Amino acid sequence: MRLFLDTAHLDHIRTAHEWGILDGVTTNPTLAAREGLEFPDLITRICAITPGPVSAEVVAPDVEGMLDEARQLSAIADNVVVKVPMSKEGVAAGARMVEEGMEINVTLVFSVAQAILAARIGATFASPFLGRVDDAGNDGLGLLHDIVEVYAIQAYETEVLAASLRHPAHVVEAARLGADAATMPFSVMEMLFHHPLTDIGMARFNADWEAYQQALSRKHGG
Ligand code: E4P
Repeated sequence: MRLFLDTAHLDHIRTAHEWGILDGVTTNPTLAAREGLEFPDLITRICAITPGPVSAEVVAPDVEGMLDEARQLSAIADNVVVKVPMSKEGVAAGARMVEEGMEINVTLVFSVAQAILAARIGATFASPFLGRVDDAGNDGLGLLHDIVEVYAIQAYETEVLAASLRHPAHVVEAARLGADAATMPFSVMEMLFHHPLTDIGMARFNADWEAYQQALSRKHGG
């Protein structure tokens, strides 16, 4: 399962890239609005940091408007993936984008039926929003399980991108259920590193090493 960062914050993207674990980035209008840059400039900068897929969302309400935006966004870099909303207009525009050779990510997927539509138009990714499903009192991981199952039965090539993840357990369960990729906030990616026994173990190793060096130094009259 590939690990994507769900952010438009350049420092966080750079840091995750330097960790060596960043496979791609997803952005959305809310995340982009926090960064204070023109959108094409922002996407250009993100694509310069990571060679992985970078999702950039169209916002026009109509098919032709979405197509215009998609053509501009996909011209920015080879790794731009155009994000289209799961709506009639988004699906119609997405189908034409695929015909034109663009990679697309169908976003705001909340049902298996919607995920089937995304696969049928040849989307590269379908993004079920697990955390928002949970927030609404339903079972986000259950939805992911059902989408992965139907995609396998149908041999769809569209990748399942588990999105709206809230904590490391979401990431682990998405992997267990067979998601192709998971996109998460920087805070969640950072949490993947942590375990209290690792911290205790490192502190103990460092203390023992320090004591060992001091003992050697005493032995040699230091
Ligand atoms: C996915 O591509 C979306 O940007 C994202 O995962 C939404 O997450 P949220 O529900 O935390 O806003």
